[in-house]
Formats: sequence, C-alpha cells, structure tokens
Amino acid sequence: MSTKVIVIGAGWFGLAAAKTYLQVERNVDLTILESGETIGGTWSRERVYPNLLAQQRYGRYEYSDRNIEIEGGNRNAFVPALKIHAYMNEYAEEFGVKERIRFKTAVTRVVRNEDGKRWDVWINDDSELMTCDRLIVATGLTSKPILPRIPSEDFTGRIFHSRDLGTQYDYITSPAVKNVTVYGGGKSAIDAIYSCVTNGKHVNWVVRKGGGGVPPLLTGVANGKVLDDFATSRFGSKLHPSLHTNDWWHWALHSGKNFLGQWLHWKYWGRATSSMQTNVEYTKSENMSKLTPNIVDHGAYWINVGPAVLTQPDIVDWIHCGCQITVHRNTIENLEGDRVHLDDGSSHRADAVIYATGYDVIQPAFSLEEGANLGLPTPVKQCPPEIAAKWDRLEAIGDKEVVERFPRLGKPPPHKKLPVSCTPYRLWRDMVPLPLLSGEKPDRSLVFVGTVKSYSTSIMSEAMALWTVAWMSGRIHPGKSLAEMEHEVAVSNAFARRRYLNLGHKFTYQFYEFLPIVDNLLREIGVKSQRKPDAITDLFEPYVPEDYRGMVEEFKKTHGISNGEEIKKEK
Ligand SMILES: Cc1cc2nc3c(=O)[nH]c(=O)nc-3n(C[C@H](O)[C@H](O)[C@H](O)COP(=O)(O)OP(=O)(O)OC[C@H]3O[C@@H](n4cnc5c(N)ncnc54)[C@H](O)[C@@H]3O)c2cc1C
Ligand SMILES: *[C@@H]1O[C@H](CO)[C@@H](O)[C@H](O)[C@H]1NC(C)=O
Ligand SMILES: *[C@@H]1O[C@H](CO)[C@@H](O)[C@H](O)[C@H]1NC(C)=O
Repeated sequence: MSTKVIVIGAGWFGLAAAKTYLQVERNVDLTILESGETIGGTWSRERVYPNLLAQQRYGRYEYSDRNIEIEGGNRNAFVPALKIHAYMNEYAEEFGVKERIRFKTAVTRVVRNEDGKRWDVWINDDSELMTCDRLIVATGLTSKPILPRIPSEDFTGRIFHSRDLGTQYDYITSPAVKNVTVYGGGKSAIDAIYSCVTNGKHVNWVVRKGGGGVPPLLTGVANGKVLDDFATSRFGSKLHPSLHTNDWWHWALHSGKNFLGQWLHWKYWGRATSSMQTNVEYTKSENMSKLTPNIVDHGAYWINVGPAVLTQPDIVDWIHCGCQITVHRNTIENLEGDRVHLDDGSSHRADAVIYATGYDVIQPAFSLEEGANLGLPTPVKQCPPEIAAKWDRLEAIGDKEVVERFPRLGKPPPHKKLPVSCTPYRLWRDMVPLPLLSGEKPDRSLVFVGTVKSYSTSIMSEAMALWTVAWMSGRIHPGKSLAEMEHEVAVSNAFARRRYLNLGHKFTYQFYEFLPIVDNLLREIGVKSQRKPDAITDLFEPYVPEDYRGMVEEFKKTHGISNGEEIKKEK
C-alpha cells in the first residue's frame, strides 16, 4: 500500500510541501486539507483585495520553477496579492496538487493513532476521521486573528479584523461608510488605511502607546537601488549575525574580536538608520511624528516590530497632510453608538472599526498537553511546570552562548518588553518535534513547516519542503543525541530573542539570516547551496527563488531516485 500523506493547509508552505512530495515520490497518496474556500491562505481569494500588494517585487516572491508574469513590464513593482492568488492556483494545477485539495475542510483535532505510528486527523468538528502515515502541518502564522476585548455591544457600525478586509472590501468602500477607525500599528493597519483613504474615507488611526509601536516605515529604495535585493545577497546577509556562519566576516563584524570591523559595522547601521528616517521625514508633520518607531538609535539594525515596506509610498503624503488621516496614540476604551471612545477622554465618529491587531500562533488542532510536549506554542500560564523549567534552563544556557558569540546582542537598546503570552515553537530544524527524536529510530511521521518568519518566504518554503520530504522518506540521519538537538533549538530561540527583541519572543524570527539557514538545510540533503556561477556573483548578486530552479531534480539524482520509486526502507 502506498504511503498516506496529509498536508494541513493550502497556503504558500503547504503547496510547496505537497508539490515537492509528489515530485519526489510519485506514488504517495497525498491529500491537502484546507479550511478555506480557495487556495493561498494569506493569498486566498477571500483574503485579498484590489490594492493589496506583497512586500516583495516581481521575481522575489514566487516558486523557483515558475515565474509570475510581470504586469506592466516593471520588474521592480510590488506583486499584487490578487496576482499571487491566481499564480498559486495555476501552480497547483500544473503540479497536480489542486485536485488533491479538499477545501472547506477544517482539521479540528489531531491525535496519535492507537498503533503509535500513524496520526488520526479529525475534520469538520470531528465528523470525519482520516488516518495518515505522514502528517505535514502548514497552518501558517496568520490563521487565528487576535481580537482585543473592547466593550462594543452598543456600537452601531461594523467591527472586523484586518484578516477579513477581503470579504468586507465592498462594504468598506461603499458610500454608506464615511469614517473608519483602524486600531493597530503594523503593516496590516497601513494596508487597511490605504484602502480606505484612496476610496475617499476618513480614517482615525489609533495606535496604543504601550504596545510595540509602529514599525519603521521602509521605502525599500536607497540611491535608486532596491534594498531588499541587497538583503537577499550573501554579502548583505553577512552584515547580520548568524548562528550558522563562522567565517572571516563573522570574526570581523560580529565576534567583538576585531575593533575596526565592529566599529565600521556599527557606523554602517547608524547611517542606514538615518537614511531610513530621513526618507520618511518623521519630523515634517505632527501626524507623522506620532509614528516615530520606539527604537531610534540604530533602529535599522534592531528589529522589534515586523518591518513594513511601504508598498504604496504615497501613504506617507496622506499621513503628513492629515487631511483624511488623523493619528492617535491612544487605547480604545469602548465603542458606543457611532462613536469610538479613547483613553484620553476624546471620542470620534466611526461607521466601521478595523482591528489590525495581529494573530495568535497557537496550533488549534493539538491538545494543550500534546502541543506543550511536542514543542508547539502553548499559553505560558498553562505550560506544564516541568516543561517550562526544562526550557528555562536550556534557554538560559543558550542565551549565555549567544551573548558570548555575539557581544553586540548582549547590549540591546532601551525598549519596552512586551508581555509574552505563549511559548515559542521548539522544533528541531524548526520542523521536527524533539520528542519524536528520542527513540533509537527517529519517528519521521510529523513535521511542521512555515513556523519561521524570514526575509524570503519563497526560498525558505522550498528548502523546508525538500528537507521535509528527505526527512520523512528516511534520507536524513541526525547523528546527534537528543540533548544536542535540544541544545541547538534552545540556542536558536535564545538568538531570536536577542536579535529580534519582542518579535523574537513571539515568533521564530530568522529574518536576515535566512540564507545561511537555507544553505544548511540544503547541505544536509545533498543539494548545492551556492547556486551562482562564480564566487563574485555568489557574494554580491541577490538570491532569488529562480536560483533554486531544478533543486528537486538534483536531489533525486543525488539520492538515486528515479520517477515512480517507492520510499526507501530505512536502514
Ligand atoms: C496581509 C498579509 C500580507 C503579507 N505579506 C507578505 C509579504 O509581502 N511577503 C512575505 O514574505 N510574507 C507576507 N506575509 C506573510 C505570509 O503569511 C507568508 O508569506 C506566507 O503566505 C505564509 O504561508 P503559510 O502557508 O505558512 O500560511 P498561510 O498562508 O496562512 O496558510 C495556512 C493555511 O492553513 C489553513 N489552515 C489553518 N488551520 C487549519 C485547520 N485547522 N484545518 C485546515 N486548514 C487550516 C488556512 O486556512 C490557510 O489556508 C503576509 C501576511 C499577511 C497576513
Ligand atoms: C467623517 O467623515 C466626514 C466626511 O467624509 C468628515 O467630514 C469628517 O471630518 C469625518 N469625521 C471624523 C471624526 O473623521
Ligand atoms: C494632523 O492631523 C490633524 C487632523 O487631521 C490636522 O488637524 C493637523 O493639522 C495635522 N497636523 C499637521 C502638522 O499636519
């Protein structure tokens, strides 16, 4: 009988995993379970709307073996979300994944099968059971909206989360709506505001004083050069500390052992920060000055809130002029009638309130105990004490190691520490639950993908997909003790917290160091990681998804897999 594989989630990561699995092992019986009505998750038809753009430009957010056709001929334009949705559909069809997706199928519970080997996947409120040999969880980090608890029983307008802007788009742009209040400081708030003002609405933008604040608003261009390309070059990545490199650059810039290198490095980030701040002109208007990021000194280096690339740069002018946008640094106390009441005693009119208040990372389908045991995010207050104590100890050791290796990270800038509500993901290689590695033979039946946030979702997703298939089919052998792997995970989480401050406490953030991480994953599965024709281009040219074209075929060649071959039996 063929191996039964279930992938939960038809978003960017789930599609990559399913497509890669089918490419490597033609005979698997693979199904994707998706609670939504269309493909794409973040980019599903329900969630996208006309002027939503990806924060990446053409050629940078796509799968390696199929380009997104460039609209209007400008490769440096940001890719429209609607286009990404259409592209994902075509991609899924091309690789035979589409017909394997079951839409409107929510996984409500995952438990171990009685045989201790397979997984029981319960769907649609436990009305149906599917059992599989291999389970890939790709449920994303933006599936469960956080709604603030604000008294609003007597509010007469509509209230919804920014996740639902796609379904509410016709309403919010209709003549019935004149005043919209947007609550939250992140990129989703900015996107929502842009849609409102360009449709003639008046927006009251309310950002709490006590939260993470507003991300640095990045124009993404400096001296006519596209900055994201620099960040995805190997040279650009060397300007960031990484656990996975130990070369001359690390010694010169991050080890604290080379005075000149360290000084130059810090000068560079100081200059990058001022140019970032001058681009947006925070001091030009009262409204914009209210959006100054919390971390000013070397703010371009320290990332404390998810960065926001200004995909619609004219939003800056809208904010400066204050004609249709009023910025408030307040907390909303309650909503009543057609008014929004703020904590400074003021109130304003609103026909609709959009909560751009982010997402919860909890994995809903696993029980609390199982989740805590597997290393999934668990509410801190409910984490079993022995698990909490063990990881506190491991992460304290990890933290010491991080500060020793990267002295700069030992001196964080002054910032307000936000309360941490959940434990982080604690997975080996960010994918495999550690308890499954404790036996004599690793249990290869369960993998999580898409648990990390990185600069290149596309490149990361394909590297993780191929690694997952290699792992599940028994082609990677850790050769390490469980204690060593736990230590690795602890160091990695400690690094994220030092490097990305509040963000690193919430997510497995691996933003700027994704390239060395991808290198590592590919090396482990025997695929070439340096993919440019020569050393110079390898150092300076940006890495884009297309550079990884043909990776799956290379992998198959390395491992002697011809099409149609069954899983190799584990040694
Ligand atoms: C508005 C917005 C803009 C963004 N822009 C960018 C960008 O420009 N660049 C970038 O790199 N990243 C961006 N991101 C991050 C983006 O989420 C990732 O790039 C990527 O799409 C994540 O893919 P994923 O597959 O991990 O998750 P998702 O796209 O969230 O997919 C997860 C899927 O799992 C399904 N699912 C969840 N739970 C269940 C369940 N229990 N049963 C069945 N199905 C389930 C969901 O319905 C969803 O379809 C953006 C995110 C948002 C919200
Ligand atoms: C509400 O909208 C009207 C017209 O669109 C505008 O004149 C008014 O100033 C707005 N009020 C607030 C509080 O934004
Ligand atoms: C900021 O916005 C308010 C309200 O729209 C406006 O009255 C004020 O003039 C703006 N401030 C500046 C400096 O433009």
